Amino acid sequence: MKVGVARESAAGERRVALVPEALGKLQAAGLEVLVEAGAGAGAMIPDQAFADAGATVVSTDELYAQSDVVLRVQKPAGPEVPRLRSGQVVIGLLSPLLDPALMQTLADAGVTAVSLDAIPRTLSRAQTMDALSSQANVGGYKAVLIAANTYGRYFPLLTTAAGTAKPANVLVLGIGVAGLQAIGTAKRLGAVVSAYDVRPETAEQAESLGARFVKLKTAIDATGTGGYARALTPEEQAAQQAELNEVIASQDVVITTAQVPGRKPPVLVTAAAVASMRSGSVIVDMAASALGGNCELSEAGSTVVTENGVTIVAPENLPASMPASSSQFYARNISALLLNMVKGGALALDFEEEVTRATVITHGGRVTSDAVAKLLAPAGGNA
Ligand code: NAI
Repeated sequence: MKVGVARESAAGERRVALVPEALGKLQAAGLEVLVEAGAGAGAMIPDQAFADAGATVVSTDELYAQSDVVLRVQKPAGPEVPRLRSGQVVIGLLSPLLDPALMQTLADAGVTAVSLDAIPRTLSRAQTMDALSSQANVGGYKAVLIAANTYGRYFPLLTTAAGTAKPANVLVLGIGVAGLQAIGTAKRLGAVVSAYDVRPETAEQAESLGARFVKLKTAIDATGTGGYARALTPEEQAAQQAELNEVIASQDVVITTAQVPGRKPPVLVTAAAVASMRSGSVIVDMAASALGGNCELSEAGSTVVTENGVTIVAPENLPASMPASSSQFYARNISALLLNMVKGGALALDFEEEVTRATVITHGGRVTSDAVAKLLAPAGGNA
């Protein structure tokens, strides 16, 4: 079976789905690896490094014509979609819930689409395949570096002959995978870190990394399913916002990571809260996208400086800004998922198996994921 590594085409995407170090495991399982010329360029991995590891470097046409399975980071787009053919498998972070129409197109073309973001994350066996976690980890680290770089003062307490620098107060909102990495990174840089989440179990996790957990007077437990948060009720949200506003006013740096699956990210830093911050403060909004972000004033992909001197950075793809590490982790995730679906050197999809059932979105000419099929059903339909 031939496994092809596609070159990413999305603007600003520098990651690659496999790295040379990951080839050994696939080859040991009887798989042959093809790499589209230039696939590793964004991550500074030359074609020759893939060739030295035993891959065959091929043209774009050859890659799509010869591969049984195409590995990628982001979903295929533009001319890449019609290149995929019936019987072929494509694996990546396909965002099927955000783009169900693409899933229908792939199903109609007879393509089997497998999405890493649909992995059952609480299944311990699937942890090596959890690309959302590995990439969020990179993002949380990088968000703190951006904040430190943007902030015009020191993060640590510093006593020198020329005077003393006070440590920066850093607040992390949302203590999931990215938030925990952000806490650890800000602590290592010497900041005074506090953190807040609507899932009470995160208090202990934040404290174990040396952060102070912000306890609001209004007790909110928004633990949802699968380890995620549920959306807050309007009353809970109003109570949260009022109390958070007070905490935010005294911060030098705020890093926001809060997400609710399948929904617009909650607004945690309002325009009024930003207006209360000191000049020179920095907000890095990791949740910002076209849907909006955790800060009311974020502009996805841009940096905004407010009238009162607060810089709001809203990076759209932090993992791509550290492509060598993020690709290394991603390669491990996608290899583990692929090998879970391979037996005796060939693809063997077992729909009784939990990971396969969850991650295969289209197969045999139809959309097999119930959640995606539901989104595609005409309003008022029975599906
Ligand atoms: P995420 O990216 O969906 O959200 C980030 C954080 O924002 C979450 O901790 C969430 O509770 C928080 N949040 C949502 N709404 C909020 C609000 N209004 N105010 C404050 N915070 C809010 O989550 P991520 O990082 O992808 O995963 C979240 C959790 O999923 C993990 O912490 C873990 O519990 C679970 N998980 C479990 C795994 C396992 O068991 N192997 C693996 C990965 C994740």
